[in-house]
Amino acid sequence: MSDTLGDYTSIVVFGASGDLAKKKTFPALFGLFREGELPSTVKIIGYARSKLSDEDFKTRISEHFKIKKDEQKSKIDEFLKLCSYVQGPYDTAEGYHALNKEIEDYEKSNASAKAERLFYLALPPSVFSTVGKNLKEHVYPSNGRVRLIVEKPFGHDLESSNQLQKELAPLFTEEELYRIDHYLGKEMVKNLLVLRFGNELLNAAWNAKHIRSIQISFKEAFGTEGRGGYFDSIGIIRDVMQNHILQVLTLLTMERPTSFDPEAIRDEKVKVLKAIEKFDHEDILIGQYGKSEDGSKPGYLDDDTVDPKSKCITYAALGLKISNERWDGVPIVIRAGKALDESKVEIRVQYKPVAKGVFKEIQNNELVIRIQPNEAVYMKINSKIPGISTETSLTELDLSYATRFSKDFWIPEAYEALIRDCFLGNHSNFVRDDELSISWGLFTPLLNYLESKDGPQPEIYPYGSKGPKDLRKFLNKHGYVFNEEGTYQWPLTAPNVKGKI
Ligand code: BG6
Repeated sequence: MSDTLGDYTSIVVFGASGDLAKKKTFPALFGLFREGELPSTVKIIGYARSKLSDEDFKTRISEHFKIKKDEQKSKIDEFLKLCSYVQGPYDTAEGYHALNKEIEDYEKSNASAKAERLFYLALPPSVFSTVGKNLKEHVYPSNGRVRLIVEKPFGHDLESSNQLQKELAPLFTEEELYRIDHYLGKEMVKNLLVLRFGNELLNAAWNAKHIRSIQISFKEAFGTEGRGGYFDSIGIIRDVMQNHILQVLTLLTMERPTSFDPEAIRDEKVKVLKAIEKFDHEDILIGQYGKSEDGSKPGYLDDDTVDPKSKCITYAALGLKISNERWDGVPIVIRAGKALDESKVEIRVQYKPVAKGVFKEIQNNELVIRIQPNEAVYMKINSKIPGISTETSLTELDLSYATRFSKDFWIPEAYEALIRDCFLGNHSNFVRDDELSISWGLFTPLLNYLESKDGPQPEIYPYGSKGPKDLRKFLNKHGYVFNEEGTYQWPLTAPNVKGKI
């Protein structure tokens, strides 16, 4: 049997009246439908506790639908015709019976031979198990296939994550479970394995002999506005480092898988995760944003929903090491922060210097992979300035998606890509249970230390700044060499002079 779910699949979104469903899940389902990537015969059911009429529900979920051309407007109505709403509680059977009836009616009217059901839990983890149990008991088909997508956070630490897994494991097989980390659905993240393993040029020098340092940085130009209450018990490390950034790091550093088969990829990810050394609690820079320098933007503690004495970390730069043959001795920094000077997620792989010999001074190669915004890959390389000059200049080989690829092609949003993968039965871009345990195993001791009574105080950095003031020193200490001020700017329009032959 094909792994792809059939034309008469029922897709149920739990937490259908919530923000995540409104902003991400339903728009992603619509995007797939618009592009012809979702059969036009599926049934989509929203389930939540709120009392909503079908019409209110449809108005709510279509708020964030995107169309590329006017002709696609009719697609919205077509899509909404597939949707309905079932109201019910999460913890008692009644709503699930109504839900099951709605699904069965649809299956019967289409004479489906087998029930195919995709459940999407756009819910906080506190109710995962309750919903899972009720689903299993009341909505799990006796003859058919089930897929269950769960959203992060998968737990708060190693213990709660293990507990969650223990509760879900008897209910759903690993095959049925799809743990979403939406970073794995981003186009440039999906490109990492192709870039690395499909280019001998990169592949050959992808190791400690040639690479001097690695950085992965996640920057957001906005604070926790409106989400302070949620964020306060989470902090930036749980919010994006333990999951999104660590996932990017594993794809960047894992060994070549035997194939692009999901398990082959996930096996290699697990191996490299196991090779990450226990974090050094001193090798971290932590911060919390205060008011902007001009006073126009609020500090983290100005949020009424936040404990006024909160030590919540909104910025962290963490040094780590991978002790295996490939990476031994290469300093790696992962960093993430809110309320910074810009929004950007990128990877910087800086190469070692060439033997000086003929060059008095020459800069290091650097590969930059920009995940967002404006996907790009560029390699800073040295080149002679054209003409009679004998000077070298740092320039770049540049693959900017916006200029290289036609504007008409469709890059799916992360959630679109991942829901499509789940529909196709492809687990490659979902988090496996053992990845989860290892990543929590790495971060939990650090979090315990940082959140203990005697844990360090985060440094206050101004909203809109680059983060804690010692960041540059921290990056230098971890092997990163900054280009001398004014010697390199990307994208480059005129040669900038640096060094003499
Ligand atoms: C989420 C975090 O998982 O990822 C948010 O909870 C963060 O705090 C978001 O803003 C970033 O995702 P993206 O796709 O906007 O980079």
